[in-house]
Amino acid sequence: MDNGRYSAFEESDFESRIVSSGYTDSEDSETELTLRPKTMDEYIGQDKVKENLKVYIDAAKQRGEVLDHVLLYGPPGLGKTTLAGIIAAEMGVNIRVTSGPAIEKQGDLAALLSGLGEKDILFIDEIHRLNRSVEEILYPAMEDYALDIILGKGPSARSLRLQLGHFTLIGATTRAGQLSTPLRDRFGVMLKLELYTPAQLKEIIMRSAKLLSTEITDEGAMELASRSRGTPRIANRLLKRVRDFAQVRGTGMIDREITDYALEKLEIDRLGLDNIDRRMLKTIADCYDGGPVGLETLAATVGEEAVTIEDVYEPYLMQIGFLSRTPRGRCITRPACEHLGIEFPSRQDKKPQSGQQTFRFDD
Ligand code: ADE
Repeated sequence: MDNGRYSAFEESDFESRIVSSGYTDSEDSETELTLRPKTMDEYIGQDKVKENLKVYIDAAKQRGEVLDHVLLYGPPGLGKTTLAGIIAAEMGVNIRVTSGPAIEKQGDLAALLSGLGEKDILFIDEIHRLNRSVEEILYPAMEDYALDIILGKGPSARSLRLQLGHFTLIGATTRAGQLSTPLRDRFGVMLKLELYTPAQLKEIIMRSAKLLSTEITDEGAMELASRSRGTPRIANRLLKRVRDFAQVRGTGMIDREITDYALEKLEIDRLGLDNIDRRMLKTIADCYDGGPVGLETLAATVGEEAVTIEDVYEPYLMQIGFLSRTPRGRCITRPACEHLGIEFPSRQDKKPQSGQQTFRFDD
């Protein structure tokens, strides 16, 4: 099994492959594969997405057609790759998995596309990171199932069109806004994955614990769920760490007490914030008078990449109402200050808060 980063060419059997979802975390492990749901019914949450997808899958199957191209977008760790595997299983087709940065040359993509069987799925993770010349190959492929090959150079160059089998492209991205318009327009189905509720995460944790043959109480699972930032990947990662603490420092059973103990050791607070979240919020409060502070300035001050802040940290902090985004930058909110036990910067009282932003650039 290949536990490394994507190569442009991967095995066609979803089960035999393990993929990294990008950024720097490689959550790809034997256990992550074990925990991955294989069918739509096993997949918890994202009800609206599942409901619509089931219709598109059934309709395509009834007509004997290929499924239209699908774009899955949303924060990392919500199960985009998992969902792509489930779509393939439900359609009864093979899936080949790759990622935007792994496809370096037009020829890489041409080889992938021409190797697909009829109705197969090509899954491209981090599709926003495809380079432009590779992207251009994708347009006729998606629209006409054709590969346009340029032969020769200069005035004598000629184009040769090769017909491909019908296929479905599933693209996944954390930043739909960064896709070029021509690429975005070629997806017939666009599905946004949302952060999970604690109740849904609890269900995922109970299922994962069972698959890991670990005993867990309702309270233990709920505690873990409410500290997993709305993200199944984080929930499953924390479950494995708490299981270690339960085994070595406890009775083996994951209950509320050992969960609390383990998460305290991991410096994850009651709402799931880690050191970086806290540092970000405190920086806005202490160094920028509560904000607004521009993303790049904030990133430089806390020593994180701006994209990581935007994709990984902000979605949850905004969901729980701890951070607001205004055209002039990020602001901390009063509940965030209360949670951190710091004073709400007095200037903030005079500024619009989340939900009541006035979009003026000159105030
Ligand atoms: N593991 C990761 N995501 C999941 C989901 N949505 N449902 C069930 N198990 C999961």
